[in-house]
Amino acid sequence: MFDLSGHTALVTGAGQNAGAGIARALAAQGAAVAVNDLVPERAETVSKEITASGGVAMAVPFDVTDLDAVRAATGRVAGELGRHVDILVHNAGIPADFGQAPFRELDPSRWRGPVEINLFGAMNCVSAVADGMCRGGWGRIVQISSGAARTGSDQGISLYGAAKSGVEGFIRHLSQEFAPFGVTANTLALGLQTNAAGAATEMFAAKIPVRRLGTPEDVGPAVVYLASEEAGWLTGQILNLNGGSVTS
Ligand SMILES: NC(=O)c1ccc[n+]([C@@H]2O[C@H](COP(=O)([O-])OP(=O)(O)OC[C@H]3O[C@@H](n4cnc5c(N)ncnc54)[C@H](O)[C@@H]3O)[C@@H](O)[C@H]2O)c1
Repeated sequence: MFDLSGHTALVTGAGQNAGAGIARALAAQGAAVAVNDLVPERAETVSKEITASGGVAMAVPFDVTDLDAVRAATGRVAGELGRHVDILVHNAGIPADFGQAPFRELDPSRWRGPVEINLFGAMNCVSAVADGMCRGGWGRIVQISSGAARTGSDQGISLYGAAKSGVEGFIRHLSQEFAPFGVTANTLALGLQTNAAGAATEMFAAKIPVRRLGTPEDVGPAVVYLASEEAGWLTGQILNLNGGSVTS
């Protein structure tokens, strides 16, 4: 079950934390993994780690907000791995200059960051791989989102929440357009992870019913399921992976 041999995955923002966990988990199930990150060294490190443990991986550093770069990279993946990307995990979602601040204190120059990486990042990546998936009659799109998409908070993340809500809507519609082609599109909405820094983090952890924050080892297997052959009847859904902190 959940054998991904013969498939090629692109995981964005996979140079650390959740994205690295996703890349490792997909590779462990047999997928060839294109490890993306804005920071080339991070992508290289995770790619080498996968290769060293017997998997197939290549580093593809690029900025998901740059459509030309995304297209060039997916072309390179197909050339080097000999197969088009048929599993896309858009995980990059926190801009490099991200900082929490109440909306009234945010300069308009900072409005675009969360929207660009989440929404335009998803559009760029999907547009680069969707034709290949639909023509091939098989594909899996997994969008990484956050509980911030549907629950308001006073933690200064309004634009991040807006961007995540937007991308969830985008994926919901894609699921309907792509379903007849054997391509599913789902969202995995994460709760707070161990790498989240902040004074309130411990307080939040104590309120999570399972009494701990999420880890890359929680996220990877959930993505493996969504990417699998076995999940072919699951599409257009938002799976909440959050230790029970928000129930649906
Ligand atoms: N950390 C949390 O508590 C938490 C909670 C809920 C949801 N999420 C979501 O999970 C995902 C991963 O979060 P994380 O905390 O592991 O992120 P992270 O910031 O630790 O790692 C993400 C990686 O993305 C890369 N990146 C940044 N901008 C990029 C771009 N433009 N193009 C390509 N790569 C880029 C970064 O270099 C970084 O290595 C995000 O979508 C985030 O919104 C995280």
